[in-house]
Formats: sequence, C-alpha cells, structure tokens
Amino acid sequence: MPYFENMAYTPTANPTRLQWDLKRKSPKDGARFEQTAMKRVLAPEIFTRPEPLWLEIGSGSGTFFAKMARLYPEKLLIAIERAKVRATRMVDKVQRTQAPNLLGFRGNAIPAVIRDVPSERAERVYIMYPCPWPKNSQRKNRWYLHPIMPHLVRVLQTGGLIIWTSDQKFYIDEARWICEQVHGLKVLVHGEIAPNSYNDMDKFEGPRTTFEKNFLSVGLPCYELIVQKA
Ligand SMILES: C[S@@+](CC[C@H](N)C(=O)[O-])C[C@H]1O[C@@H](n2cnc3c(N)ncnc32)[C@H](O)[C@@H]1O
Repeated sequence: MPYFENMAYTPTANPTRLQWDLKRKSPKDGARFEQTAMKRVLAPEIFTRPEPLWLEIGSGSGTFFAKMARLYPEKLLIAIERAKVRATRMVDKVQRTQAPNLLGFRGNAIPAVIRDVPSERAERVYIMYPCPWPKNSQRKNRWYLHPIMPHLVRVLQTGGLIIWTSDQKFYIDEARWICEQVHGLKVLVHGEIAPNSYNDMDKFEGPRTTFEKNFLSVGLPCYELIVQKA
C-alpha cells in the first residue's frame, strides 16, 4: 500500500550515515566534479521548444517514454541512456515511434543534466529502477548522493516532480530523506507502487518498464517516491 503525504512515516534511512555521506570529501564531490570536462549531450535548441519538459534518466530500451509520448503529446519527452545496447534499442524505438514530442539520446545523463538542462526547465524527472549501488563503497553513485542531485532539483520548475521507482526499499527511503531534509522537496507519494494520479500505472496494460516487468514477474515488490519542488 502506498503511504501518502501526512500519513505516519517511520524512516528506515539512517540520517547519521546520510549526513556523513554528504560531508565526506571524494573526487566526485560537487564543485570539483562539475569542473571536470563535460561533453555536451543535449543541444541548447532543444530547450527553446515551448512544451513542458519531461526527462527520463537511464531510460534503458525506452519502452516507458515511447508509450508516455503517445499518452502526453503536449509534453516534450527526452530519454537518456548511456549503455550501448540499451541506448541503441531506445534510439531505434524512438525513431519507430515517430512521435514529434519524443527525443532519445545515447549518452551520459550526468553532464546532460549538470551542463545542458537550463534551470527550472523540467516539469518532471523520471528515475525508473536505477542501479541501487548496494555496496557501501559504491554509495556515492546513488543518484541522491551524487553531485547530480542538486542539479536535478535546479532543473525542476516550481511544482515540478521527481519520480523515483526502485525494487530496493532502502533506496527509496534514503532518497526520501535526502529529498525532504536536504533539498526541501515535498513528498507526495512514498511506498509500494500502486496506481495513483502521478505514476500513470493505470494507463499501462502491465509493467511500465523492462525492469519493472523483471521484478514484478518474479513477485518482487517495487517502491516509489514522488517528490515536488515547492
Ligand atoms: C537498472 S536499469 C533501468 C532501465 C529502465 N529505466 C527500466 O526501468 O527498465 C538502469 C539504467 O540506467 C542507465 N544509466 C546509469 N547511469 C547512467 C548515466 N550516467 N547516464 C545515462 N544512463 C545511465 C544504465 O545504463 C541502465 O540502463
């Protein structure tokens, strides 16, 4: 059952550990990371289009945004995927979809967001089933602990949403703590996935993404966090 805003929330994220993560210095820390050379992924002209922007980071083979583009022709949807095989499939799918409001890029979403996306341009950012980086030594790669995180907030317009989905409850709980406590985002939905007015589950005949299908087909629960920029 999803638990919505104003309902009791017992955090399973460890605030002490997360605060320590944010203070810790590493080569991936904020300003230093941002000064490293970043190749342009998205051309500036894209952002002069008038439609509200929905961005998907790590889109895999693009199944989700290919359908979402048809459901929401009035939005501009941009899918970004880094891995060669998945990205090639995604770009092919985008071409086959022939939706004028759907763009697909093979590339790294980190420079794309940090460097290319203007502030307050995105209405929604989707992070569907990201790699959870479960080992302690890899924690800094979790999107909410990565230097990209303040930029995910920066690119959001007021009222804009970040929609996170994962098979890992700890990931969603930690993301909630960071979104709420560090970035002041408002929690709209947090819990096990179920159709609601933000996640479009009711418009899909089955799972929305390839990874969602993989997890649900073997009976694994999936979780989501939907946060809003005030
Ligand atoms: C577990 S898969 C999920 C794919 C898809 N969202 C789904 O639910 O089926 C995570 C994806 O994020 C992509 N990814 C990870 N880091 C990325 C980055 N920096 N830029 C673009 N894609 C990235 C990976 O290549 C991988 O395809």
